[in-house]
Amino acid sequence: MKFLIANWKMNGDLHFAEQYVQEMNDISSEHEIIICPPFPLLLKFKDCVHSLGAQNCCFASDGAFTGEVSPNLLKELGCTYVIIGHSERRTIFHETDADIEQKFKILSELKLNPIVCIGEKENERDNWKGILSKQISWMQNANLENAIIAYEPLWSIGTNIIPTTNEISEVAKFLKSQIDAPVTYGGSVNASNACTIFNIPNIDGLLIGRASWTSKSFAEIIREVEE
Ligand code: PGA
Repeated sequence: MKFLIANWKMNGDLHFAEQYVQEMNDISSEHEIIICPPFPLLLKFKDCVHSLGAQNCCFASDGAFTGEVSPNLLKELGCTYVIIGHSERRTIFHETDADIEQKFKILSELKLNPIVCIGEKENERDNWKGILSKQISWMQNANLENAIIAYEPLWSIGTNIIPTTNEISEVAKFLKSQIDAPVTYGGSVNASNACTIFNIPNIDGLLIGRASWTSKSFAEIIREVEE
């Protein structure tokens, strides 16, 4: 079993979510389908047959943290996964590896499965090993039992530029030599490249942004990798 993760980012509305759930409920897969809509739409996934994930969470379970979202509440809403450290959180909202480690800890305590995003920037490509090693360094002492590591090179997110199969394979192999957790790939995955990337050795699934923003294109990817 591999993972197919839909990251809606800040897209969708109440009506869209209702339709998406209906359409996705007609689709079955031998793989784990995880849909990650924006927080306010999570309630609309009550009857979804697939797994539910959030795109972020607070490092604490409750308290005086205005504007933050409690992982406890996410659990109550039916989430079993939470994405942490997405590159947009790191770059736009200045989240650090230390912040991400803190979030990881609370998720582990609450038995929520963390999807930890890592990846190098365009100007760091020559040093990807160094960058990824730094991003995963805290994981050496963490319990990764329920974690998924999402490798998402920043230069590939939203650009339609994807690494070669060999490059992805090399990164996945390196990560697997360092940490004991499934490794997914994300960055410009679509129905035409999904199957190839999905089948790269050491790749345990896909994290999909734009191509998951309609149930039709997400379903197409699910069908592609199933064949
Ligand atoms: P993309 O986004 O598939 O639109 O490139 C992936 C991501 O940011 O998780």
